[in-house]
Amino acid sequence: MGPRMTRSAVKIAAEDGQDLRAAMPPPDSPLAMRGMTVSYGEKPAVFSVDATFPARSMSAIIGPNGAGKSTLLKASLGVIPRLSGEVWVFGKPLAQARDRIAYVPQRASVDWDFPTTVIDVVQMGLYRKVGLLGRLKGLMTAQAQACLDRVGMADFAHRQIGQLSGGQQQRVFLARALAQDADLYLLDEPFAGVDAATERAIVDVLKLLKSEGKAVVAVHHDLSTVRDYFNYVFLINVRRIAEGPAQTAFTAENLNATYGGRLSATHISELTLSGGAA
Ligand SMILES: Nc1ncnc2c1ncn2[C@@H]1O[C@H](COP(=O)(O)OP(=O)(O)OP(=O)(O)O)[C@@H](O)[C@H]1O
Ligand SMILES: [Mg+2]
Repeated sequence: MGPRMTRSAVKIAAEDGQDLRAAMPPPDSPLAMRGMTVSYGEKPAVFSVDATFPARSMSAIIGPNGAGKSTLLKASLGVIPRLSGEVWVFGKPLAQARDRIAYVPQRASVDWDFPTTVIDVVQMGLYRKVGLLGRLKGLMTAQAQACLDRVGMADFAHRQIGQLSGGQQQRVFLARALAQDADLYLLDEPFAGVDAATERAIVDVLKLLKSEGKAVVAVHHDLSTVRDYFNYVFLINVRRIAEGPAQTAFTAENLNATYGGRLSATHISELTLSGGAA
């Protein structure tokens, strides 16, 4: 159901062997895809990827710079077109379930000079839910304020977003996602450039979402915290390398395959031997 594009060599290759994948994913999977290929030019950024993220989980998308992690998220949301493949959100085609997804983009991709206040940014998360009816404005402000409070940013409501530190901006974008009251939260590097206290605050909010039965899928770079924060991992380097429960899929072998031997053996054994609390 992606946009029709001219058949290219990439598309033909991506469709090879897809008949085996015709089966629908489990209906309670918050996000599943089959044969997803995305290309900005000749070379695919994401190639023929299958994924089945589990319900009521915190899942990490892991891979090196340029591996296609952000591309995978954006194509899953329909923000960028896919060349081929199918996406299901809670067992439904993307178009029928997009309003159950909240998305926090990679911070570097946001225009922070845009002149708007913190509370306005959070309220943008609510528009889709209640429309733009003026009489609901008071209610919306209260809800937006409550979401800011959850991320410890209540005192910054009337600040311009461009006048916040990076970690504060990240909290505000999480508040906006919370305001959407979604069932699936897609976050692109939510911990990039934030201090330990902010990271802890964000993790606590995400774990609370999980305990409420929601699903969180986050691009994550810090391999040392994967086992603490996430119970499911998806490893990608253009192609899917592996996916599964962190206990079984976050292994030295899979990390080597994902990073192409660029991580030292000592580092990898430290990462995969240290037990996690997830
Ligand atoms: N808008 C674009 N136009 C052309 N190429 C792009 C575009 N966005 C990304 N790419 C390319 O697609 C590939 C995947 O990029 P993507 O942003 O998905 O990687 P990533 O895994 O999120 O990396 P990072 O860890 O650095 O955020 C890269 O080679 C990148 O250069
Ligand atoms: Mg990225």
